[in-house]
Amino acid sequence: MSATPSSFAPGAPAAIAGCRSALGEGAPAQGFAADLARALASRPRSISPKYFYDVEGSRLFDRICELPEYYPTRTELGILATHAGAIAAQIGPRAEIVEFGAGSCVKVGLLLAAMDRPARYLPIDISGEHLAAAAAELRASFPALDVQPVVADYTQRLLLPAPLAGAGRRVGFFPGSTIGNFTPLEALDFLEATGQALRGGALLLGADLVKEPSVLHAAYSDAQGVTAAFNLNLLARANRELGTDFVLEQFSHSAFYNAPLQRIEMHLVSRCRQHVTHDGRRHEFEEGETLHTENSYKFTIEGLRELASRAGFTPGPVWTDPARLFSLHWLQAPQ
Ligand code: AVI
Repeated sequence: MSATPSSFAPGAPAAIAGCRSALGEGAPAQGFAADLARALASRPRSISPKYFYDVEGSRLFDRICELPEYYPTRTELGILATHAGAIAAQIGPRAEIVEFGAGSCVKVGLLLAAMDRPARYLPIDISGEHLAAAAAELRASFPALDVQPVVADYTQRLLLPAPLAGAGRRVGFFPGSTIGNFTPLEALDFLEATGQALRGGALLLGADLVKEPSVLHAAYSDAQGVTAAFNLNLLARANRELGTDFVLEQFSHSAFYNAPLQRIEMHLVSRCRQHVTHDGRRHEFEEGETLHTENSYKFTIEGLRELASRAGFTPGPVWTDPARLFSLHWLQAPQ
């Protein structure tokens, strides 16, 4: 078995801090101006959640992961810790772990610690800075592990390094239910491309589950207002980086569960009639008009397995917590 650093031992209390959305910080700065211009000119107005994650947004997301109401991070960590042995057995010896987004050192650490002689860890991230930090952390915790960061946008077609001679299975790891921040079509495209990149291997995928709406509402409208600050930071970021003149006090955070579409929607709602200037153009907001900033899809276990099957995977074991809040799926990639 691999040397197991005590901080990653299955069952050890895992610190959540340092979790990062795999949507990635730094990645999307280019394109922000054009995408915001498009969002402001269209009706209804919407923009990709990837723009949440500048330095401040990533810091706020870290805080979200620690909130009492935000169950996904600690629940997924609990599932990983509880089922580490079974998951490691499924992965098999000498495997290579490919992580999509270099954000979850704690999560992948739990996995690596339980695995039988992991051969290599390949974190993929568009931000070289984050990759370097994640790689350094993992190398320090697992000195025998070959860590090879890959600077790339994993939502685009991926070309991974050739497998190591004598290595076992290649297993992708995509925790955190970031898949839920994709549109259904993006999720299918991502899974199809991932299946091709992992041919002959498997994907370990974290997916948040459909549940009582009050639990979801609390998780996305926390009492301390951290999620509200995270949402509003998108406007603050535009003011900082693009010279827009959003008055933050004149927008409010709104998050609600759209049951027919099985998703939490986050919006920024204009509190009054106002205008904002971007790139020399004036854009009117009516009172109550919104900028739709994020969808966070929730899945049934069957729905997720069906989606994965459509993308070419063969669904295998699923691990959940006792309250069935969150799920971890073993998906066999096509041969
Ligand atoms: C990164 N992602 C999975 C989070 C989610 O729950 O959809 C982002 C988030 N948005 C508000 N709170 C957390």
